[in-house]
Amino acid sequence: MATYRIAPSILSANFAKLGEEITAVIDSGADFIHFDVMDNHYVPNLTIGPLVCEAIRPLTDAIIDVHLMVEPVDRIIPDFAKAGANIISFHPEASRHIDRTIGLIHEQGCKAGLVFNPATPLYYLDHVLEKLDLVLIMSVNPGFGGQKFIPEALVKLRAVRARIDETGKDILLEIDGGVKTDNIAEIARAGADTFVAGSAIYGAGRDGDPHRYDSIVGALRAELAKA
Ligand code: DX5
Ligand code: ZN
Repeated sequence: MATYRIAPSILSANFAKLGEEITAVIDSGADFIHFDVMDNHYVPNLTIGPLVCEAIRPLTDAIIDVHLMVEPVDRIIPDFAKAGANIISFHPEASRHIDRTIGLIHEQGCKAGLVFNPATPLYYLDHVLEKLDLVLIMSVNPGFGGQKFIPEALVKLRAVRARIDETGKDILLEIDGGVKTDNIAEIARAGADTFVAGSAIYGAGRDGDPHRYDSIVGALRAELAKA
């Protein structure tokens, strides 16, 4: 069976208890912390920045997977690297020089990801795929948690899976938006190996005190085992 990674998006966490919310999902078996950065410019919402990344870094050894929905993107990359980010992903529309931005992320010691909105064409992969560590397919329009999965993303996943396999490289294929227990197996069959889930996990309710998310993380894994 493929190695699947579950990446809870803290966008749907209780921000008044952010530290506990992070340790709870990791203790419950999640793999990455998905960290959504929105600037009220590239997307119509405003969230968290490097200060919050720095504050949560000591709480976990898990990979912090930063999803930048900001424009311009380059100036903020070194700040996130210093704050302890492991993966930094950006949208091609938000960078004047995509190859340079990928290089900048690597120079800062992080892994680099490129993100595709539902209407962003895959030709942005043409000259850079082999330089990437991750491709992120958006299955909602970026800006908000709790939206409905757009099925067209499955077509894109299949196409990117084939292109990654052709490279023979270890490039993660991540999906973000509307991932739930009732669609995660189908998404895995389309080729994703890394699954962002915000409202599905943090909206599921906790399992007790100290709170944990074992039931929902376990349910997602059980569905993945069927894929
Ligand atoms: C949307 C964000 C997502 C979002 C996912 O712009 O990039 O990471 O939090 O949330 P759900 O899983 O609720 O769709
Ligand atoms: Zn995201």
